[in-house]
Amino acid sequence: MRMFCALALAASLVVGPAFADAPSGPNNGAPGNAPVAMPSPAAKQAFIDDLIARMTLDEKIGQLRLISIGADMPQPMLIKEIAAGRVGGTFNSVTREDNRPLQDAAAKQSRLKIPIFFAYDIVHGHRTVFPISLGLASSWDMSVVKQAARVAAIEASADGLDATFAPMVDISRDPRWGRTSEGFGEDPYLVSQSARASVQGFQGASPANPDSLMAFVKHFALYGAVEGGRDYNVVDMSLMRMYQDYLPPYRAGLDAGAGGVMIALNSINGTPATSNKWLLRDLLRDEWGFKGVTVSDHGAIEELMRHGVAKDGREAAKLAIEAGVDMSMADVQYLKQLPDLVKSGAVPMRDIDSAVREVLGAKYDMGLFADPYRRIGNAAQDPKDVNAESRLHREAARDAARKSLVLLENRHDTLPLRKAGRIAVIGPLADAKIDVMGSWSAAGKASQAVTLLQGVRDALGKQAQVSYARGANITDDPRVVEYLNFLDWDNPEVVQDKRTPQQMIHEAVQVARHADTLIVAVGESRGMSHEASSRTSLSLPGSQLALLQALKATGKPLVVVLMNGRPLDLNWPKANADAMLETWYAGTEGGHAIADVLFGDYNPSGKLPITFPRSIGQIPAYYNQLRIGRPFTPGKPANYTSQYFDAQYGPLYPFGYGLSYTTFSVSGVTLSSRTMARGGTLEASVTVRNTGKRDGETVVQLYLQDVAASVVRPVKELKGFRKILLKAGESREVRFAIDEDMLKFYNAQLKHVAEPGDFNVQIGLDSEHVQQQGFVLQ
Ligand code: BGC
Repeated sequence: MRMFCALALAASLVVGPAFADAPSGPNNGAPGNAPVAMPSPAAKQAFIDDLIARMTLDEKIGQLRLISIGADMPQPMLIKEIAAGRVGGTFNSVTREDNRPLQDAAAKQSRLKIPIFFAYDIVHGHRTVFPISLGLASSWDMSVVKQAARVAAIEASADGLDATFAPMVDISRDPRWGRTSEGFGEDPYLVSQSARASVQGFQGASPANPDSLMAFVKHFALYGAVEGGRDYNVVDMSLMRMYQDYLPPYRAGLDAGAGGVMIALNSINGTPATSNKWLLRDLLRDEWGFKGVTVSDHGAIEELMRHGVAKDGREAAKLAIEAGVDMSMADVQYLKQLPDLVKSGAVPMRDIDSAVREVLGAKYDMGLFADPYRRIGNAAQDPKDVNAESRLHREAARDAARKSLVLLENRHDTLPLRKAGRIAVIGPLADAKIDVMGSWSAAGKASQAVTLLQGVRDALGKQAQVSYARGANITDDPRVVEYLNFLDWDNPEVVQDKRTPQQMIHEAVQVARHADTLIVAVGESRGMSHEASSRTSLSLPGSQLALLQALKATGKPLVVVLMNGRPLDLNWPKANADAMLETWYAGTEGGHAIADVLFGDYNPSGKLPITFPRSIGQIPAYYNQLRIGRPFTPGKPANYTSQYFDAQYGPLYPFGYGLSYTTFSVSGVTLSSRTMARGGTLEASVTVRNTGKRDGETVVQLYLQDVAASVVRPVKELKGFRKILLKAGESREVRFAIDEDMLKFYNAQLKHVAEPGDFNVQIGLDSEHVQQQGFVLQ
């Protein structure tokens, strides 16, 4: 209260007093790392109330605008708009130098001196690029997910950024959807754990800390369930499925303290998320108690007209503000329509005030009222070279990347390779700096990325001979090249080799003939696994399969290294490659990390966070399907059971699958009791043994099955996992505590309940091969 009075007296001063007791921010120096003590919620409320009371309608509407740097307006105009109090925040700038004049316009020149915030899509790294989220999830190591976000926050805040549009926690069960790469996979539990870890990493102890970013969990909600995997398509889903499977990750991110939510572009059961009162008010605010800020996705308010729920911009703006969209991203409708909507009484001032309250609250929580320059710092201390090597965190990125690689095949212990002889590195992705970073690579520089070829050369030094051939273009379809290069004609990402596929394959075969071992990098260009990059096929594009087949025919050991952002159709390589490593897009240090695994300096431990189907026709192929009346019965392929008669049943690689250079065995499951009392717990344990000759890590996975319930329940659901390191020959008992909460599900009335009866505990090293034991909940 004392702080608030000080503020109220200084009517024109909005910075400082509310944070008077906090260690002061480096107003005139470089951003510091001192943690910031947050004032009480009451002080925050009083501060914001006072400010709102002094704002004009135009200033309030200004706070609701989030401007895309470079896209929405030229810089001089932007500065004028900010100084006039007509901008709440911006996104897409990535240096302190760029952000400082914008903050000057807000915090020094605007009437109320309300600071703006700076956001960016920092999804898997800022300057140092970490593996894509699907790769981070493959580590099944939440300290890795958290560390990737922490490092990104440290780097981005040092560039004057305050917030990130991440983590992206949309469950994806349809690999046709290009944004599968941006998320943490198909499973509600694993994605929720990743969401939590990621928010904790980005925000650190507080989003106000100078080295923290405020996390905006996205895309709320259900974006990953777009029909047919076609981006931006509709979502039509039962409430039970939403609550059970798709909503938990957003909730987990918010429960971890995320300050913001980005609203999805899709409609949900007939109402766009952007105009969805049920979603944004009833569920998000009332049921979940979310207290932060919501932001539309890019241009989404305007798009309400195209969805066909608003006849014009006025209706679109009215629908969005009423639904609870606080900030409009790269969209003019709030600016154009809200003044008259309010003046005419069509939109109550109350709605505007509540949106403004959230925007100001977010800035308050970012620490910007205490010091608008807490991340921008002082010009004298700006980095001379923003891309300086010294600013990168290569070691952390390499460590994360090694842990994200999934060994899919390893016939006759082909891997690890010896560091000797003649090694041919082949393939369109073997030396592709831009692709190894993956999409949404923020301020990462391709020139600083390590390709597979470079990684292999660095690992081998003079110990072996390395040769290279490109072997194929990623695609041979000029329309696809045009599509992928559409965004930036001046810097095309997909640069075609002009030779014919036959010429390129011929050259690769010649190179292969002179080698002892072939390492072949195939997959997708990064733009193929991105926003607006849905596919109708999961096959290796272009002539890449033909390249693999020609190389196989040389009889040389064939090691396939995959780079892709979604499950691919790997039938041929699964049957024919001597070894196969899924590397996703492994980031700045990708090449080194992959070489670490190929040559045995790191024993792979990643597990798939998403099912790999045999063919596109099997989609959706997620493991935790609901039970059915006529399930396919292994060994009894009778008619009238659920299957596709023209293909083998089941996935190519199941969820949770991944090999190691050693082998493990899992004992039967022991339960501490065969009954669980209401509110009680029991313990399930297995003994895991490293049965091979090398030390190695594996992920012990706990699944539960509700044998009979009031509604149909999944065949199994992941409820816990533990990554353990075992020395060769070592065994360890791994225990999981199971409590009643873990047995709960949303029933037909959407009540979260555990129902008495039989349950199965299943423990294994992937979702298919499990040991089972039953108990009864009393
Ligand atoms: C994407 C969002 C992203 C935004 C800003 C949109 O097209 O859907 O995920 O945060 O652009 O770059």
